[in-house]
Amino acid sequence: MLEAVKGVVRRSLLSRAGGIDLTQLDKVPDRLTWPLDRVVADPVPRVGEMRDKDPVARLITFLGMDIWLVTGDAEARTVLGDLTSYSTDIRPYYGKSGAAGGDIGGLGFTDPPEHTRLRKLLTPEFTMRRLARLKPAIDRIIETQLDETERVAAANDGIADLVQTFAFPIPFLVICELLGLRDEDREIVRKLGSARFDVTHGGQAVMGAVGASREFLFAECARQRTEPGPGLIGQIIREHGDEIDDFDLGGLADGAFTGGLETSASMLALGTVVLLNNPDLYAGLVTDPVTVTPVVEDLLRHLSVVQVAFPRFAKADVTVAGHRIKKGSCVLVHLPATDRDPRAYPAGDALDPSRATASHLAFGYGFHRCVGAELARMELKAAYPALARRFPDLSLAVPTEDLPYHAKSIVYGVESVPVRLHR
Ligand code: HEM
Repeated sequence: MLEAVKGVVRRSLLSRAGGIDLTQLDKVPDRLTWPLDRVVADPVPRVGEMRDKDPVARLITFLGMDIWLVTGDAEARTVLGDLTSYSTDIRPYYGKSGAAGGDIGGLGFTDPPEHTRLRKLLTPEFTMRRLARLKPAIDRIIETQLDETERVAAANDGIADLVQTFAFPIPFLVICELLGLRDEDREIVRKLGSARFDVTHGGQAVMGAVGASREFLFAECARQRTEPGPGLIGQIIREHGDEIDDFDLGGLADGAFTGGLETSASMLALGTVVLLNNPDLYAGLVTDPVTVTPVVEDLLRHLSVVQVAFPRFAKADVTVAGHRIKKGSCVLVHLPATDRDPRAYPAGDALDPSRATASHLAFGYGFHRCVGAELARMELKAAYPALARRFPDLSLAVPTEDLPYHAKSIVYGVESVPVRLHR
């Protein structure tokens, strides 16, 4: 992901400024990336100190571009809800068919009117009524993955890695179901899906996998033109086939993977870690089902796994919380910081389902707010209780602090969560 960010900045600078030493981009300074650091579930204390001092502050001027960091809840809503002052469109810097454009997704980096046109095609697929049709498949997928967890543990002294058996496969298979991909294609997509989030071979490998999975989805959209499947791709083709080409449709399908896979997988993995450290909440998911919704909402807020909203680029000079943000500046909204702002959430650092709020910013805000929020909620509300029902004695097999957390990633997460199924 950092590679993608570097790519954006590089192209942005290339397009508007000559004479800059672009090799410097390979050394993204810590002054730019430190807000992505975390201590287990929490943002680093420096983020909170910054919010207390000034919820809108210039983080760094990097190769001529001012980069601002917004850490306050009200200020974040002002920026993310401002439809006219900012652009998130980075395509001019990439070119529509560039390989790196693979990371763009269909919506996040697009402005109105194109954004409005594409989003209108997608949102009907995410209404509660259409999502309800997915519910049996979601439940079936979860049960299958719990069986798989049991199978793996039985062969491994009672220990399984929940990321491999539960957190990654569930959202992956749900997105395959959502899109209506054929069973025989899922293995290819799974390999590509894992590769695009596997940073062990560096940014180039990730971008290659992103390009390859986009190619697959473009081909799949072309195939479904003649044989529309039962999912989102087929539905859009049936209802709006003449309003959208395969490139944009493939982009929307790819956006579901980019937006929905790593995020939901992280929530399932990290959320389980937090729940296992709060055994009463974990047990309550089974014994007291009314707690499921508030627990899930406060976990979403508490973890805010997407660490920054899509970068907003100021289209003109704009004033926010008394600061003059110059045209061309980049504004980053730090979602874990805004979601723990004590002015919006008393004792915001604590997990507290009794605060019962669904208005957190874990899914963003404004016209780029997450399209898949209700689907993600459905998955989480089904998966955590199913896990607690099947494995009431589940415990971490390594101390929480020793788990391999992602370093400096836009979507915060954990590589593996080894658990012991039974006492
Ligand atoms: C727990 C899981 C998830 C989290 C925390 C999450 C979070 C977010 C956030 C923070 C944004 C950016 C909002 C902004 O910049 O204002 C976003 C956008 C988006 N998400 Fe999600 N998301 C999740 C699951 C999903 C799922 C399951 C899908 C689809 C299958 C999805 C699809 C999208 C898309 C397409 C966008 C771009 C929307 C636009 O630009 O109009 N997300 N998400």
